[in-house]
Amino acid sequence: MITLNVIGPGRLGQSVARLAVDSGLYQIGGVLVRSASSAAKALDFIGAGQVCLQLTDFPAADLWLLAVPDSSISEVAQQLATAKVVKPGDVVFHASGALEAKILAPLQVQGAHIASLHPAFSFADPARAVVTFAGTPCAIEGDVAACDVLQQFALDIGGVPFALAEGGKVAYHAALSMAANYLVTLADLSLQTANQAGIAPETANRLVLGLMQQTLSNVQVLSPASALTGPIVRGDAATVAQHLSVLPESHQAAYRAMGEATVALAGERLSEIQRTSLMTTLQVSSPI
Ligand SMILES: NC(=O)c1ccc[n+]([C@@H]2O[C@H](COP(=O)([O-])OP(=O)(O)OC[C@H]3O[C@@H](n4cnc5c(N)ncnc54)[C@H](OP(=O)(O)O)[C@@H]3O)[C@@H](O)[C@H]2O)c1
Repeated sequence: MITLNVIGPGRLGQSVARLAVDSGLYQIGGVLVRSASSAAKALDFIGAGQVCLQLTDFPAADLWLLAVPDSSISEVAQQLATAKVVKPGDVVFHASGALEAKILAPLQVQGAHIASLHPAFSFADPARAVVTFAGTPCAIEGDVAACDVLQQFALDIGGVPFALAEGGKVAYHAALSMAANYLVTLADLSLQTANQAGIAPETANRLVLGLMQQTLSNVQVLSPASALTGPIVRGDAATVAQHLSVLPESHQAAYRAMGEATVALAGERLSEIQRTSLMTTLQVSSPI
């Protein structure tokens, strides 16, 4: 049985620990909590492990998960190195999407293997997370030995591991943030614009979100370039100018920026004249 120690049984820490226990292949050694009150709840959910109130309380383990917020990973890694409880050959990993494994360098110096394992999943509620986690892509980067162990760990908890090259972490995280966060902002801007047209909120939801879902499934089946429809790919600069003329200034910047990226995506489907006309409209047109 492989032993996992967990520092920070928050949303991700509890969920990953419970998934590891449920796999039947891992046992939980210690779980570091900052207050006795949160300990009982976390341990009850994980269903295994002993409470550790300080780093020096930890029992020996093969794997160490630092599931603390990104802003605390560096500090906790340093504290863990100072506590001298990690053995050479142990694998220490964090779950940040934006930070690289090398933030754990103080432990590598002591002979530990270091990595990051980022599940592309929202652990809003651990009880729900553990039943819906299966099939989640897990990005893994770090030293070779740690990555080998975590590839298997990700599979064992029901994830789908894939390797990230060194230096790719920030671009990886930017990709996910654009996809998840900007999609939400785009939905909101579109709903506000539908509202401006006098469309009732319920109808606007069906209209805008339905079209977004349909478009997303086209992108999945086709490709972004082939799924593109609308005035820009038709080279219709007049309609683009009209759109700009009704949008409040606060929304125009987003429309213009996305419009320019859409002209680039349309590529060869636009003539040179159409491209120039669209870019001029997007960059300089003032409301008509
Ligand atoms: N949540 C997600 O959907 C998600 C998805 C992918 C990756 N991640 C990554 O997972 C990691 C944890 O995120 P989370 O959302 O699970 O955070 P969270 O719910 O806020 O939990 C953080 C845990 O760390 C503990 N903690 C905070 N600072 C600490 C410190 N200095 N020393 C020891 N323990 C400390 C907290 O204890 P207290 O309760 O006492 O504050 C809590 O148990 C982050 O790296 C995040 O980027 C999260």
